[in-house]
This record gives sequence, structure tokens and C-alpha cells, in this order.
Amino acid sequence: MKKILLLLALISLNTGAYAADAKHHKGKDLHENKCTSCHQDNVYSRNDRMVKTMSALEHQVNNCMKGAAKAEWTQTETASVIEFLNDRYYKF
Ligand code: HEC
Repeated sequence: MKKILLLLALISLNTGAYAADAKHHKGKDLHENKCTSCHQDNVYSRNDRMVKTMSALEHQVNNCMKGAAKAEWTQTETASVIEFLNDRYYKF
């Protein structure tokens, strides 16, 4: 019985990880395609990073997306990148 419970616990842990990956799949892909030519991920995790609030993050992603990266993302796509960056790096 204990073994079965352990197995179930492991299975549910795994699905949790898959769910998180799936949730960020789109934002992660969009980010990889358009956002890694000028700066690498360390710009989001350096000590003196510019972005200090969630609204600053939204603002900066929009700025880089429209200006620097010339990506034509829908609001949903932009939001998925913001969510990806926040969950992975900023954690506001
Ligand atoms: C043409 C170059 C370029 C591209 C492409 C680009 N960025 Fe940027 N980004 C910059 C520059 C320059 C900075 C300021 C870096 C610094 O201060 O050292 C910056 C800073 C940022 C920051 C703030 C980092 C911090 O300090 O907290 C975020 C967030 C960001 N970019 C997101 C994005 C996203 C999302 C994309 C893709 C849509 C993107 N960038 C594409 C040039 C670019």
C-alpha cells in the first residue's frame, strides 16, 4: 500500500512539472524566438536589474517587444511572455 501511495505521489509530482512546462510553452517559445538576440537571460536575474515591479515588467516587455524586437505579438502572446519571465525570473 505504501508503495502505491509513493508511486501516486511521484506521478502527481511529475504531472505538476509537465503542467508548468505546458503553461509556459508559448511564452518560452516566443521569448526564445524574439528576445535573445540582444540580451541573454542573465539580464533578468542580475543584481542591478532595472525591473522592480510587475507593472515595470509589463512596460519593459512591451517596449522591447514593439521597439527592439519588432515582434508583432497579440496581447495574449505578450501576456504569456510576461508570465513566463515573471514565473521564471522576477517572481513578483
Ligand atoms: C534590439 C535589442 C533588444 C531586443 C531584441 C530585446 N531587448 Fe530587452 N532590452 C534591451 C536593452 C538594451 C535593455 C536594457 C539592458 C541594460 O540595461 O543593460 C533591455 C532590457 C530588458 C528587460 C529589463 C531587464 C532588467 O534589467 O530587469 C526586459 C524585461 C526585457 N529587455 C525584455 C525583452 C523581451 C521580452 C524581448 C523580446 C520581445 C526583448 N527584451 C528583446 C534590448 C533588446
